[in-house]
Amino acid sequence: MNTRHYIVDKDKPDFRLLDQAAAVLRQGGLVAFPTETVYGLGANGLDPRAVAKIFAAKGRPADNPLILHIADVHEVEKLAKKVTANAAALMAKYWPGPLTVVLERTRLVPDAATGGLDTVAIRLPDSPVARELIRLAGVPVAAPSANTSGRPSPTTAADVLADLSGRIEVVIDAGPCGIGVESTVVDCTTPVPTLLRPGGVTLEMLAETLGEVEVDPALGGEHVKPRAPGMKYTHYAPAAPMTLYEGETEAVATAIAAAAAGLVAAGRRVGAVVADETARLLPPQAATATYGARGDLAAAAAGLYSALRYFDAVPVDVILAEGVAESGIGLAVMNRMRKASGYKIVHCE
Ligand code: TXA
Ligand code: MG
Repeated sequence: MNTRHYIVDKDKPDFRLLDQAAAVLRQGGLVAFPTETVYGLGANGLDPRAVAKIFAAKGRPADNPLILHIADVHEVEKLAKKVTANAAALMAKYWPGPLTVVLERTRLVPDAATGGLDTVAIRLPDSPVARELIRLAGVPVAAPSANTSGRPSPTTAADVLADLSGRIEVVIDAGPCGIGVESTVVDCTTPVPTLLRPGGVTLEMLAETLGEVEVDPALGGEHVKPRAPGMKYTHYAPAAPMTLYEGETEAVATAIAAAAAGLVAAGRRVGAVVADETARLLPPQAATATYGARGDLAAAAAGLYSALRYFDAVPVDVILAEGVAESGIGLAVMNRMRKASGYKIVHCE
């Protein structure tokens, strides 16, 4: 199949192009589209055969449930048996936006979308392109990130095409995504809501709205089974093995510079995913993808996945990555970086 590439304005998208893409969704096809977090791979979320195509195109394990994207808050009532008070508070505050709530599902939601779970993940995105597309499709749109399973999520249409060209009918291109890491996933079926995946709506913001919020213990490390099935898989892996340096800022920068110098001297091709300040300390032979100024956590989130994908085109033997502070959206960045490293972590003091 020939993937059609529709270029639209991110604030005022061409209605006719979105309507053509919506028709593809209604007919059971696959459309990749931008959201404020990452690009999604969409299909009609109520059609099990369309949903099955998502799993086939991505090579995604069937037990990993999808998020249903809606364009209007009232659609939740069709998909969720009960909107708990905690979910209602979160939705009122952070929708539209980078927040996904997990609720008990209704019978309308097909097994194919939830991996057989009796819960469903729902999100109302902020991106006008995404919302208009969903509205025109007239159905909830199931959409995981539009990458091949295991790869970094796409933050541009070029990233989507690198993984899925020829496997999807359409990609809608509205330029790079603003946030850059996937939505926050919160299980609202438990008496105290539980953070399953950190994202753009930060833990601090959740705590402020809910008073009390639990954090899935699996977020702390690799040996605990996570409650979001997708969080257990190797993820976000760049093209070369990556080691993550985290800890005290100066010690991290010094350790990365020393490791890079040693590896270059040994004839290895070194890649670095670091802050601007650290890039200046590296030997000129190291290929560097920076994610912005140190301490700018929003920039790190927005730049992380393209930095990881940079080494698809620039071959290296090893990647050295610099961690960020774990506050705000930094919690999400560190969660993704640790997974991308396969938990190969050097702690620096
Ligand atoms: O920002 C995002 O959320 C993007 C854009 C496209 O909206 N989508 C996204 O989808 O990241 P995906 O499929 O890559 O990640 C969904 C995560 C997975 O970890 C999955 O296991 C979890 O949400 N999830 C989905 N349904 C769930 C459920 N019923 N219970 C627990 N976790 C669930
Ligand atoms: Mg994903």
